Amino acid sequence: MLVLGIDTSCDDTGIGIVQDGRILANVIASQSLHRAFGGIMPELASRAHLESIDEVLGLALSDANVTLENIDVIAVTQGPGLAGSLLVGLMFAKGLAFGSSRTFYTMHHLEGHIQSALASAPSLEPPFLALIASGGHTHLFDCIEAGKYSLVGATRDDAAGEAFDKVARLLELGFPGGPAISKAALSGNDKAYPLTMPLLGQSGFDFSYSGIKNAMRLAVQNLQAGKLEVSVADLAASFERVMVESLTKTTFRAAKSLSRDTIVVAGGVAANQRLRREFGLMGEKNKLQVVFPPAQLNTDNGAMIALAAWLRATRGEASDSLETGVKPSWNLY
Ligand code: KG4
Ligand code: ZN
Repeated sequence: MLVLGIDTSCDDTGIGIVQDGRILANVIASQSLHRAFGGIMPELASRAHLESIDEVLGLALSDANVTLENIDVIAVTQGPGLAGSLLVGLMFAKGLAFGSSRTFYTMHHLEGHIQSALASAPSLEPPFLALIASGGHTHLFDCIEAGKYSLVGATRDDAAGEAFDKVARLLELGFPGGPAISKAALSGNDKAYPLTMPLLGQSGFDFSYSGIKNAMRLAVQNLQAGKLEVSVADLAASFERVMVESLTKTTFRAAKSLSRDTIVVAGGVAANQRLRREFGLMGEKNKLQVVFPPAQLNTDNGAMIALAAWLRATRGEASDSLETGVKPSWNLY
């Protein structure tokens, strides 16, 4: 069974092709034009999707060495995301499904992130816990059974990747913030600046990063005023330490509370080496399996949508209606 997945939820035009759960192609056109604005410009994003989507499809088909006629299932992200960007993908997907016998699935973006783990662990089956940490999301989901998710915790303010990006800007380390902070942190002392884990002692499983961001703003002001004897590298290392601590400790506490023995860690922040190390160590210590999707599936892409759709198809789910619109705000649970 050949499944084509499309994701245009934000600023990446992604199309992936999956055959029986195996990725044959995963083409992503990233929009660099937003850099000059220091943030994503929704109007420009949808126009850029429109300009590149045909070419991305052509490249994906050629990478997979298949033709459009071979495709059995068309799957597309319906939400959440930027309305204009989602609309481009959805209309394009409808065009590919219309008048054909193909199955048509409208998908939730976060289900795609969660199921991207199938590329690393093909036998992954619920129940398991999934942490999604990216520039736009920090969510903990309990994947109870096939297609059924329950929200366990989420950020109360900034997403983890957003915190990395904002703090990197404060430290003048560049964009995207995650890799820039990790690089600077290599030569820093992670205990040089005292930062406490946010929401320490909470009984729930939420995250919060605005407090750390403000603490870092204060640190930078003090550093500039000559009142602090630490380096930018020390600040980066201390920040990275507390971010990783928050993500790992909260997730493992949730896994224990829900008696889950498998944890999936997905989204852009999952690229963080310190995070991967900590999750690995804590996994060994607590005898839990930790699954990281392959690096190219951490960022937004079409293959993850195709993988999640393939699961639906194997369950024999019927096509969704072509008479449907985008869902910019849409909860998975
Ligand atoms: O999933 P993603 O590509 O885009 C969306 O947010 O949808 O995630 C991008 C985010 C950025 O905020 C970036 O700073 C963060 O992931 N990121 C990292 C690392 N690499 C990317 N954060 C921490 N450490 C990294 N190595
Ligand atoms: Zn995403």
